[in-house]
Amino acid sequence: MTRIERGSTVVEVVTGDITALEVDAMVNAANQSLSGGGGVDGAIHRAAGKAKLQDACRAIGGCPTCEARITEGFDLPARFVIHAVGPRWKDGNKGEEELLAGAYRSSFMLAEEHNAGSIAFPAISTGVYGFPKERAARIAARHCLTAAETGKFETIVLCCFSDGDAAIYASALTTEAQS
Ligand code: APR
Repeated sequence: MTRIERGSTVVEVVTGDITALEVDAMVNAANQSLSGGGGVDGAIHRAAGKAKLQDACRAIGGCPTCEARITEGFDLPARFVIHAVGPRWKDGNKGEEELLAGAYRSSFMLAEEHNAGSIAFPAISTGVYGFPKERAARIAARHCLTAAETGKFETIVLCCFSDGDAAIYASALTTEAQS
């Protein structure tokens, strides 16, 4: 586990299943329809209670890439799920980096509005959406450190599903923290 302190905020990288984390807000790597899917989206929907989370998402109606929407966490340990829609990787010239950055920024904005002091992110866009992991990790790390500097969060977790991914995110966090 890698841990960086910024004032009263801890930013950390962990390996594990995000659905088990005891945080105020859990971020989901969602799609534009918010209808659930595979990967971490499927895991979060199952753990929250499929029907309940689907109903809440249906009431919202969808979310454009680069933005996020918030629902209750239902059966999850988290009070909220923040459904962030990252971009599909195309060739790197379609604004992918800025779109991913927007998904992080929107997630932090919603967390702040709902007084969620602890928040956990999966490695948004790096699974089915094919975003190169090192580049995605740098964007995630940069936005987590920026959010940490606001002093509005106690804990920000980057939750990776494998040790290999965690090593990539940890290295990005260390590098960004030094720059
Ligand atoms: N906890 C933490 N991380 C997880 C978990 C889990 N339970 N399950 C999967 N992951 C990791 C994957 O290993 C990957 O590193 O989440 C990361 C993001 O992968 P995806 O879930 O495929 O998300 P993404 O690349 O953003 O693609 C989004 O996939 O499931 C669909 O509906 C979703 O269409 C959307 C697309």
